[in-house]
Amino acid sequence: MKEAKKKNKLYEGKAKIVYETDNEDIYIQEFKDDATAGDGAKKGKIKSKGIVNNQVSGHLFTYLESYHVPTHFIKTLSDRAMFIKKLEMIPIEVVMRNIATGSLVKRYGVEEGKELEQPILEYYLKDDAKHDPMINEDHILSFGHADAEELKQIQRLTKKINAVLKSFFYRRNMLLVDFKLEYGRYKNGKICLGDEISPDTCRFWDVETNEKLDKDRFRQDLGKVEEAYQEVLKRVLKTVN
Ligand code: TMP
Ligand code: ASP
Repeated sequence: MKEAKKKNKLYEGKAKIVYETDNEDIYIQEFKDDATAGDGAKKGKIKSKGIVNNQVSGHLFTYLESYHVPTHFIKTLSDRAMFIKKLEMIPIEVVMRNIATGSLVKRYGVEEGKELEQPILEYYLKDDAKHDPMINEDHILSFGHADAEELKQIQRLTKKINAVLKSFFYRRNMLLVDFKLEYGRYKNGKICLGDEISPDTCRFWDVETNEKLDKDRFRQDLGKVEEAYQEVLKRVLKTVN
């Protein structure tokens, strides 16, 4: 099949740009170095972040596909861009947590760093102006963002992704602390994983030192931000048993 050609910019977000192509079913997703935190209150750049996130996401999507998790990934186009399937995105951020940190600690006062008795799945409405409020399944169904069957599939996939990636990262000396996913509908209506999986959207702690290897280094001004992104890329690409 001939390669789709880049056309108009469709959408520019805080960390990515999506382009149309001459194939109506295929988009191009390009990763930027721009970084924001706290609803865009803090702005900056992380050198080569876009290159790292493109490679890490491409690798993880391919890995998940091998476990029969449907994703929007088609193939890598360049150092910062990938071809993706056009999805009708569901405006929900699905967060899965294995270890207590971040907003979980702020909201509920759970002890920082505590391994959770069981993973916690949360939903947030993707709406910057409303500061991405937390919602539950009833909100999603009642507001018509997804139907019951789709929601069940999103839950099933998110739990599976957690199990598969937890083990993937542990074998690379990282704890998968928590992460955020976004889903959409492919043209046949099937629920597919979209967006990205990267140090922007996951928390990784080194197994031995508990050192943070993700965007929290930027959010919390911990320094060595670029180095952490490079380290995650190196470990993700590593072949282990
Ligand atoms: P939180 O503890 O701040 O709620 O974050 C939970 C996870 O979701 C963490 O891995 C970071 C990720 N995340 C995003 O990808 N985008 C966001 O806008 C936020 C707030 C969190
Ligand atoms: N990306 C989000 C924002 O800028 C927040 C975050 O990742 O912490 O609002």
